[in-house]
Formats: sequence, structure tokens, C-alpha cells
Amino acid sequence: MLTEVNRGRTAPGAEQTLKVIDGQTTAGPDPGASAFGSGMSAPYRQVAQRAKDAIIKDMNMRKSITSLALRIAALSFIAAAGQLTALDNGLARTPPMGWNSWNKFACNVSEDLIKQAADAMVASGMKDAGYQYIVIDDCWQVDRDAQGNIIADAKRFPAGIRALSDYVHAKGLKFGIYSDAGTATCQNRPGGRGYEFQDARQYAAWGVDYLKYDWCNHGTQDSAASYSIMRDALAKSGRPIVFSLCEWGSTKPWLWARDVGNLWRTTGDILDKWEGTEKWGGLGVVQILDLQDGLQSYAGPGHWNDPDMLEVGNGGMSLTEYRAHFSMWCLLAAPLMAGNDIRSMSPDIRDILTNKEVIAIDQDPLGREGRRVKRADGLEVWGRQLADGSRAVALLNRTGAEAEITVTWPDLGYPHHLAAKVRDLWAKRDLGEKTGSFTAAVPGHGVVMVTIKP
Ligand code: GLA
Repeated sequence: MLTEVNRGRTAPGAEQTLKVIDGQTTAGPDPGASAFGSGMSAPYRQVAQRAKDAIIKDMNMRKSITSLALRIAALSFIAAAGQLTALDNGLARTPPMGWNSWNKFACNVSEDLIKQAADAMVASGMKDAGYQYIVIDDCWQVDRDAQGNIIADAKRFPAGIRALSDYVHAKGLKFGIYSDAGTATCQNRPGGRGYEFQDARQYAAWGVDYLKYDWCNHGTQDSAASYSIMRDALAKSGRPIVFSLCEWGSTKPWLWARDVGNLWRTTGDILDKWEGTEKWGGLGVVQILDLQDGLQSYAGPGHWNDPDMLEVGNGGMSLTEYRAHFSMWCLLAAPLMAGNDIRSMSPDIRDILTNKEVIAIDQDPLGREGRRVKRADGLEVWGRQLADGSRAVALLNRTGAEAEITVTWPDLGYPHHLAAKVRDLWAKRDLGEKTGSFTAAVPGHGVVMVTIKP
């Protein structure tokens, strides 16, 4: 079970804005005009007025030259900064797939568990289905030594992290680890703040391929600046490392993280529940879904919205609900990080996690995240454009009872008269050619997922 954690968040919406201040003088009466030269004769006044005009013109010119120079300098700085700071690690061209210890095991992590998870990922067929990363979440670390090096829990990881990563690599898998951008992790283990470059070098030396970076205990730190330091540190480490930002959507990372991380959490922590919320910020599947609406345009190859790790198989939902949870994450091009005990899962759960046709939607190379195209009375249609021009569709029934749901071709951007082949991805069955629309009976809290190919 998850424990309540100390999150130490800052208030949401604390974004930064850059203001350009326009240096132009405003038009209008000169307040000094009536007094200027009032005791002079007309010709003198004219000369004096011309001199005044010339001085003002000169001042304005200087002002605008200075302001132009400042603007050019600022623009070149921004351009240079943009070049220096773009995330360009070439990783996660499709959403990362793997397993993470947190949702099921919380702080109960050990090298035995991680090795067994790697074994199970291969034996269960998950590796064949595309899962790659084995990630240890919080609680593997206990302290720093006198030189500031991060120290792993020697009781739980007696052979050390390098040996564990070698084991995972020997299975043909990749190895991931967790830390935090603040001074301490959410379970109060040492955080990365101030040690970013040292930690990144250590992770590279350990053979780390994936870093999840949390946001607890960040005090007054700026999120974009803090995560950018670690991005730069990882880039300097010399090893390609997927960078997974976990700041829970609190400072709208979709607006700034495209150049910082390969994926960013969009919400608080997922609960192993179809619906509901917890005071500490936990959210059920449908609450998370609602928060994804509108974020689609920010995702794409190399930079993904992350609605949190999977709960499939953890016991709190029915098979129908788990199938729907998995389908919706695939429709959203979400990272697929299994969070159950994959050593002992039932064949039903394994079949959900390894459904290759549904995974192919998640991993579609176009990388276009799906969106909700229609909703009424708890019945929803979600659609996603695929690389070959076809569509993936999830008919989602949020009510408790079976109901019919219809998707029309115009809902998907297709003309009404088009004939298209429909295939059910869970039944693994072709449903024939349909024109204009498709209707299915969908179980309560369930999904019917199809592809529609003209
Ligand atoms: C936060 C994260 C979780 C998990 C825990 C670990 O709550 O959002 O995914 O990493 O911390 O303490």
C-alpha cells in the first residue's frame, strides 16, 4: 500500500513570464511647451524651438538606438540560450515502457526484488511486448559520504548498484533509478539539490539509462530552472539517460519541459481505484483522464505527457477497469510503466499488459496523443490519429451499467461516406467494413477499443 507522503509542493500556476518593455515615447502635448521661450521675440523663439526640436529628436534617436541595441542583445542571448539548453538526447521517440517499484512496493525495495522483476519481465513476455526499463523508485538511497557521493542502502543492495545494473543489462533490459530535485526525496532520503553534476556522473558510472526526478522538498526552487540543471548534468555525464520529470503538473511542465525532459507527470499520484481522490493528492483513473484533456498538443516524439504509472494488477480494480485503464493510457501515448508484482501476476493481468495490438497504439511512430472527441452522460469517445492515417478509438463507459456508444466518422475527421475496416483490439477480431459510424455495447467502467482504417 502507498503511504501518505510529504510532498512539499509550491502553489500551482506559479509560472514565470517575460515582459518586453517598449521604450518608445508617447505622443501628446509637451508639458514644457507653453513655458519654453515665452519671454523671447518671434524669430528667436523659432530658432530656439528648432534647437529644442533637434535636441529632442537626437535624444529620441539615441533612446531608440539604445533600446534597439538592448533588444538585439536580448534576442541573441535568448537564441543562444535556446541553442544551449534544448533537450537533444534522441531518446524516448515513442513513450518509454518498463516497470517501476513504487506503486506496489513503495519503500520495500531490494536488489533481490529488482533482479526478480527483471527475470519476470523476460519470462512473462513483457520484454517481447516492448517493455525495457526496470526502475527502482524511492528508498534505495540512505545518505551521502564525506565527499557528497550518494550512498545506496547496503543492507538492501549488498552487491551495490553497479552490479544490479549489470544484471538488468545482461537480461537485455535497461536500468533506471530515482531521485528528487529538492533537498530530500518524498520519503526523506537525500535529494539531488546541489549535487546534480556529481550524481549524474555517478548514475552514468553505474550504467543508469533512466532517471525519474521528483519534486518533494523543493522549498522556493524554480521548477524549470531546477530540472534544467539536472538536464544539463545528464547531458554532461556522457551517457544517454531518459529524463523523467515528476513535478505532478504543479507548474504546468507541458509549457516548459519540452526542452528539459523526455516525459513529465501531468497530475498527482495515481490511486489503484477507478475513481476517487485523496486529500494528499491521489487520483483515480477517471480523475486523471479528465486532467489530460487539452494537453494533447504538448506531446510528441521525445517529449511526453505522463499521467502516472500503471496500476494494472494491483488488486483495487476489476479486470474490465484495468483493461480500460490500460487502453486509455495507450490512447494517450502515455509512458507504460507497469507498477504491479510482475513475478506473480495472473494470466489475465499479463494478457492486459502484453496486448501487442493495444501497445502498438501507444507506440505509434507518429506520436500524436489522442483526445476526447465527444462526451455525454458518462459515455465518451476518444480518438487518436495513427501514422498510416487510420484512427484508434476508445469508447469509454464511465457509468456503472452497460451502454451503447457510437463514434461517427466526422468525430474522427473522416467524411461520413467513407467505408473503413473496423478491428476490435481486445477481442482481436475484424468487425468488417462500416460506413459513417460504428456502435458497440460497452460494459460499465469499460472500454471497447478499435482501429478504423479507410
Ligand atoms: C511521489 C511520486 C511517486 C513516487 C513517490 C516516492 O509521490 O509522485 O510516483 O515516486 O513520490 O516517494
